[in-house]
Amino acid sequence: MSDFTRTIHLTVNGEAHRCKVAPRQHLVDFLREDLGLTGSHLGCEHGVCGACTVRLDGRVVRGCLVLAVQADGRSVETVEGLSEGGSVRDLQDAFVARNALQCGYCTPGMLMAAAELLETRPDATRDEVRVAISGNYCRCTGYQAIVDAVCDVLARRKAAGAEAPVTAAVVSIGAGARP
Ligand code: FES
Ligand code: FES
Repeated sequence: MSDFTRTIHLTVNGEAHRCKVAPRQHLVDFLREDLGLTGSHLGCEHGVCGACTVRLDGRVVRGCLVLAVQADGRSVETVEGLSEGGSVRDLQDAFVARNALQCGYCTPGMLMAAAELLETRPDATRDEVRVAISGNYCRCTGYQAIVDAVCDVLARRKAAGAEAPVTAAVVSIGAGARP
């Protein structure tokens, strides 16, 4: 890190942080290297693959295209926070049931993208699921299974006519994927 740093204040997964960062440090590098949140992965590092997907003030962004200083005063959620909150437990279970992860490298970004779709488009069609995850690359090419898993959850939530189950259980799929 260069000698020139700037102090930022932000909330990550509900926890307040005050940190010194280099102005050029990307948000995903800050999360991984400074906070130890290695669930967000680095793939292309130029906004194409989606492996670094996180939420900034509730909206999905590419962590490799956002500087850590741009998160000053804002709220960040990573796949760890998403998982620990329990709101995607059914999605994680569906990924397992459908064998929608192989090496798991894309899984955190896929979960973040799919979670946003589930929240914002509960009536999404299969084609719309494909579009929603089209910005996330799976190098193992398991797209069919991923789409199947998301569609399963859409159908189940619709049938239940209720919000996604919220449990205290911590499921580490995605959040526990290797760095
Ligand atoms: S690492 Fe950010 S989009 Fe690929
Ligand atoms: S499961 Fe390997 S990159 Fe998607």
